[in-house]
Amino acid sequence: MRFHILTLFPDAFRLLTEYSIIGRAVDRGLVSVTATDIRQFATDRHGTADDYQFGGGPGMVMKPEPVFAAVDTALADIPANEREQTPIVLTSPQGRVLNQRLVDEFAAAPATIIICGHYAGVDERIRTGMITHEVSIGDYVLTGGELAAMVIIDAVSRFVPDVVGSEENVREDSITSGLLQHPLYTRPVEFRGMDTPEVLRSGNHAEIERWRRRQSLERTLRQRPDLLETADLTNSDRVYLAGLGWSGSDA
Ligand SMILES: C[S@@+](CC[C@H](N)C(=O)[O-])C[C@H]1O[C@@H](n2cnc3c(N)ncnc32)[C@H](O)[C@@H]1O
Repeated sequence: MRFHILTLFPDAFRLLTEYSIIGRAVDRGLVSVTATDIRQFATDRHGTADDYQFGGGPGMVMKPEPVFAAVDTALADIPANEREQTPIVLTSPQGRVLNQRLVDEFAAAPATIIICGHYAGVDERIRTGMITHEVSIGDYVLTGGELAAMVIIDAVSRFVPDVVGSEENVREDSITSGLLQHPLYTRPVEFRGMDTPEVLRSGNHAEIERWRRRQSLERTLRQRPDLLETADLTNSDRVYLAGLGWSGSDA
């Protein structure tokens, strides 16, 4: 999985590529993150990548020429037979909010180009003239697209085989599985008067699975009931949820 990031602050990506799980994935060659400074593609010798807004207004706007040139260069680095499938993503609070479906779509592509906006944002011609996706990481505004790009890379990289473990493990996580995950416990058995559930220490795998499923259903009902509308539920899940007061579609 290869990510080509176009940014005014390439060093920011060291936070992702030099630490923890994604750092190890980069070291092992499972994921590559190339952060390119857009200023390199400026048309003047001062490396100007932003300019005042036509019409006036606060904040500078990222110029189109360096961004188009940076995307062309990133595309030239991608094998011709993969270019068509390469998402060209603009990070933006105006975009589609990142979710598992979008993460799956990016994870299926061999490479992804991500443009990080900054200041007041990017020239509209970048939005209309070259991107395939405009992606937001939530309904709030960041100062730049770097953190948003890192969120996308982190979420997508978890689906690259061997980055986190088996794909099966990753698919059991909250949201990805369609539900919220059951509670997790580790040692010590008792901590500050709080016990761990006995069933988890019983060695009875069928009972453990049953407990976890029920906890997962209950937690989803309490915290994200909207997920139950699309979750893959068995008849016994529905009966259990109905007992908890769920009045979902087929309850
Ligand atoms: C201060 S924001 C610009 C916001 C712009 N003036 C607007 O109102 O839509 C600067 C940059 O941060 C990034 N950004 C801000 N919020 C974001 C979000 N929620 N998701 C993804 N990227 C975001 C985008 O790349 C954006 O171009």
